[in-house]
Amino acid sequence: MKLFSEYVKSYNLNRENASGFFDAVSDLYFSPQVQSLKQYEQHFEIDRLQHVTSVSYLSYVIAERLGWDSRIIARGSLLHDLNYYDWRDGDGEWHRPHGYKHPIFSAYNAIELNKEITDIEIEMIKCHMFPLTLRLPRHKEGYILIFADKYCANREVLYSFSKSYKKKFDKLIKG
Ligand SMILES: [Fe+2]
Ligand SMILES: [Fe+2]
Repeated sequence: MKLFSEYVKSYNLNRENASGFFDAVSDLYFSPQVQSLKQYEQHFEIDRLQHVTSVSYLSYVIAERLGWDSRIIARGSLLHDLNYYDWRDGDGEWHRPHGYKHPIFSAYNAIELNKEITDIEIEMIKCHMFPLTLRLPRHKEGYILIFADKYCANREVLYSFSKSYKKKFDKLIKG
């Protein structure tokens, strides 16, 4: 598995090229709550819906490769940044510091959205900001999310700040 090519693919997912992934997440993915994440900037030029899609898809393919529970891992990963606000908003301080607090808000919103959520998914979400929050997952599933989240965040920041990378990446995602 080439991680970068799977990451590139995460920008063009559909039911034909990622049927297993959509079988795992479609009820959550197409919910108004998850789709509403499109309106929020996550990492500069990349919106939050694209971010959680890339993280969830990468988590899914890594889990498939390891023979772990890819459905649970994809679903927990999809909801890891389920926050209905722009973290740069200056209107009040209730969500700051965002890095520390948002995993708990995401877990709360994920429980609201997914009535069948498991303890493993909740733990994945709560612990995804390790090492910042110092909350280590007790279950192995959480480590895939921690890795995929950081991998995607780094790519997204690079995309936003490197003109040459952006040019190459745009070409790749157009095929
Ligand atoms: Fe996050
Ligand atoms: Fe994230």
